[in-house]
Parts: sequence; structure tokens; C-alpha cells
Amino acid sequence: MRRQLPELRLENGAAGPEQRGTVKIQTLNRSKDYRNCIRMFINPRRVRKWHFLQIFATCFILCLMIFWEPFDNHIVSHMKSYSYRYLINSYHFVNDSLSINRDNLERVSSYQYLINHSEKCQQQDVLLLLFVKSSPENRHRRDAIRQTWGNEKYVRSKLNANIKTLFALGRPTDHLLQRELQLEDQKYHDLIQQDFLDTFHNLTLKLLLQFSWVNAYCPHSRFIMSADDDIFIHMPNLVAYLQSLAQMGVQDLWIGRVHRGSPPVRDKSSKYYVPHQMYPWPSYPDYTAGAAYVISSDVAAKVYEASLTLNTSLYIDDVFMGLCANKMGIVPQYHVFFSGEGKAPYHPCIYKKMMTSHGHVDDLHQLWKQATDPTVKKFSSGIWGRIYCRLVNIVLLCKPYYEDTYPCSAAFS
Ligand SMILES: *[C@@H]1O[C@H](CO)[C@@H](O)[C@H](O)[C@H]1NC(C)=O
Ligand SMILES: *[C@@H]1O[C@H](CO)[C@@H](O)[C@H](O)[C@H]1NC(C)=O
Ligand SMILES: *[C@@H]1O[C@H](CO)[C@@H](O)[C@H](O)[C@H]1NC(C)=O
Ligand SMILES: *[C@@H]1O[C@H](CO)[C@@H](O)[C@H](O)[C@H]1NC(C)=O
Repeated sequence: MRRQLPELRLENGAAGPEQRGTVKIQTLNRSKDYRNCIRMFINPRRVRKWHFLQIFATCFILCLMIFWEPFDNHIVSHMKSYSYRYLINSYHFVNDSLSINRDNLERVSSYQYLINHSEKCQQQDVLLLLFVKSSPENRHRRDAIRQTWGNEKYVRSKLNANIKTLFALGRPTDHLLQRELQLEDQKYHDLIQQDFLDTFHNLTLKLLLQFSWVNAYCPHSRFIMSADDDIFIHMPNLVAYLQSLAQMGVQDLWIGRVHRGSPPVRDKSSKYYVPHQMYPWPSYPDYTAGAAYVISSDVAAKVYEASLTLNTSLYIDDVFMGLCANKMGIVPQYHVFFSGEGKAPYHPCIYKKMMTSHGHVDDLHQLWKQATDPTVKKFSSGIWGRIYCRLVNIVLLCKPYYEDTYPCSAAFS
């Protein structure tokens, strides 16, 4: 392992960006390792114990290389990025290379508001400002959210907390759709829209919209959350959690599902492709998945400040947020009940602690009904309920294969 790693890194580093699809090991090494591998299986007694591990590791990596050719680049770039993250762990270049110089600061003027609702937060205490990143055409998703977890009235009456739910939008290409959005907003008063095209590659502009809106109109909200419109949020659990944090006067909070040492995607066919010129380093600073994260108001202010001084051309919004936070010395914290790309298992024992789950559109109403049913809490309380739920959660979360939902450790939390 130790011998192989630097070689792999060198090989990949030497290749130009165009040749990165394949990584080749020197044939000389390969044939020698083959021989060792074969010898090991033919006559195991000839191999000394301490050799075994080394040869095993070599065979393992060779197998990866041979049978998973298409993933070569993926694996190698992860190795590089993890080693960068854990060995070097310095992202000074964020400040040095991505800062824009003062002369250019004027150019960063934000886009005009089409709908701003500057009055939303005024003269009231707000526990949570919830920004849902939506697209103009996703009316049915917004309606489902208004009726379930984003419902301010429910939260006020049932959970005794003041939250504000707003939808962050860009401009649609279609004028008719813009008219519909205005009508929608007249009915619900919860859209915030700026005059940039609402596209995937403009997501960083949507992030800037959220932070500049918070800075201008709601800097006193205790917490700010940003979420996708295909997410499920267990609002009773989240509100209880945030209330307890607010009581402790927590600051510097940035919580969600943390990506540590993620490499930039160099595969041109990927949605997340980032060219070398845009980000030449092997690893991103730590960041939380953009699907759902929570920050405290002091973090929002700092990130906003940093966002004004960094080059915003990087269009992956959660990575851009990571760069801003890194510049301000803010570190994200992992919460095990913020899900990854996968849906959380449907089970009362999961509902008891869940915060967010990803990929819910059609089943949102049903999940909301089940997850917030008062019997869930009763069901899993008491010593037998707790033991039962611990076991169920182990079975549901500790799978031998990888599922991008809650980690196994969540079953023990
Ligand atoms: C970032 O860079 C600027 C100059 O470009 C420097 O004045 C500032 O102190 C740096 N900040 C940090 C946190 O290193
Ligand atoms: C916000 O919206 C109001 C009403 O539409 C408008 O009068 C005001 O100029 C807007 N403010 C900004 C900063 O766009
Ligand atoms: C982002 O929005 C701006 C302003 O509307 C537009 O000119 C640009 O083409 C959009 N970028 C992408 C990648 O869609
Ligand atoms: C931001 O970075 C891009 C390259 O990714 C570059 O073309 C652009 O000029 C930079 N913008 C500023 C304001 O420095």
C-alpha cells in the first residue's frame, strides 16, 4: 500500500487534463506484482507473514485497476483528495487565489429583486428562516411544502416557534410562467426572486441571493436553513433541537451532512464537472451537502462578508459556501440524521430522531403524516421501546453495502 500510493499519485499528476480518463501503471511493476500474486496463491508457505499484507494490498489495488478500469480516475482522485485533506489540510489558496481584487468589488453588484418581501421578518423574533431553493416550474413541490413541513402556522400553533419559510427563485425564460409566479406570490407571499436565469449553473447566484437577503432583511433570525425542494424535514425534531441550541446561546453553528475532502469532478459528462482553470486543486474544503444545512446568524453574516470578496464563478453552490466558510475559519459539523442522497428508511424508530431525508416529492404528505404522528414518540419511549428501536435502527442502517442514507453510527446515537 505504502509503496503503491505515491506511484499512483505521480502517474495521475503527470497526466494532462485530457488524459485523465485512464491511469496506467508501469508495465514493469505490473508484471512483477502479477508474479507475486500468482506465487502467493500457488505456494502460500513461501510467503512470510509481513509480506502477505503488502502483497495482498498490491493485488487488491491491481484488481481495482484491472476490473474497475472505468472507476480508476474516480478512485485515484479520491485517494489524492483524502490524502490532501488529511496530510496537508491547508486551504490557503482559497484566500490567495480566489479573492477578487478591490478594483473588481464594484462588479459584484447583485441582481435586482423581482420580488423581495423586505417586510417578512420585521419587528419579530424569528427562530428559523428557512430558504427553500426552488425552480419556477416546481409549483406542486412548493404547494406540498406549504402544506407540510414548511407550514408556518403549524409550527406556531403546534410547536410554539416562529419560523419563516421562503422560496428562493431566479427568473424563468417564459413570461407566462413569470406571471404565474406573481399570482402565486400574491396568494402566499413567500417567494423571493432575483433577476438572473434560474438554471443549474446559476445555483451560486441563488446562494448569494439567500445570503444577501438575510443580511438585508433578516439578520436577527437565530438560525438560517437552506434546503432543496425535494427534501423532507422533520420540523418538530428540528425545532426542538434548535430551541435547545438557542437556549444555550450557540454560535458558530454550521451543521448538516459534511463532505470531507471531496475531490472536484473532472469527468466532463458529469453535472458537477469543474474545469481545471476554475479549480486546479485536488480537494475542496469541507462543506455540507446543499440539500439541507443549518447555520446560526453569526455564520450567515461571516459567509455573506466572504462571499463579497471571492470569485463566484464556481457554480457548485455548496462548494462555494465551503470556500466562503473556510476563508472565515468556520468548520462544518456532521449531524448523523441529515441524510445524504438517499431516502431515510420508513420506520417509526427512524422518525423519532430524523432531521432531513432526501428525494421526497410524491410521498411528502404521507411521510409527514406518519413521521409526525404523536404515537411515534409513545411507541419508542420507555426502556423496552428504546431497546427495540436501537435494534431496529441497527438493522435498518448498518448494512453491509453502502446506502447513502444515515450512517450506521446514527443507530447508536
Ligand atoms: C487574505 O488575503 C488578504 C490579501 O489578499 C489579506 O489581507 C488577509 O489577511 C488574508 N486573510 C486571511 C484570513 O488569511
Ligand atoms: C423591494 O420591493 C418593493 C416593492 O415591490 C420595492 O418598492 C423596493 O424598491 C424593493 N427593494 C429592492 C432593494 O429591490
Ligand atoms: C445566469 O444568469 C445570468 C443572468 O440572467 C445569465 O446571463 C446567464 O446566462 C445564466 N448562466 C447560466 C449558466 O445559465
Ligand atoms: C473568476 O475566475 C474565472 C476563472 O474561473 C476568471 O475567468 C474570472 O476572470 C475571475 N473573476 C474575477 C472577478 O476575478
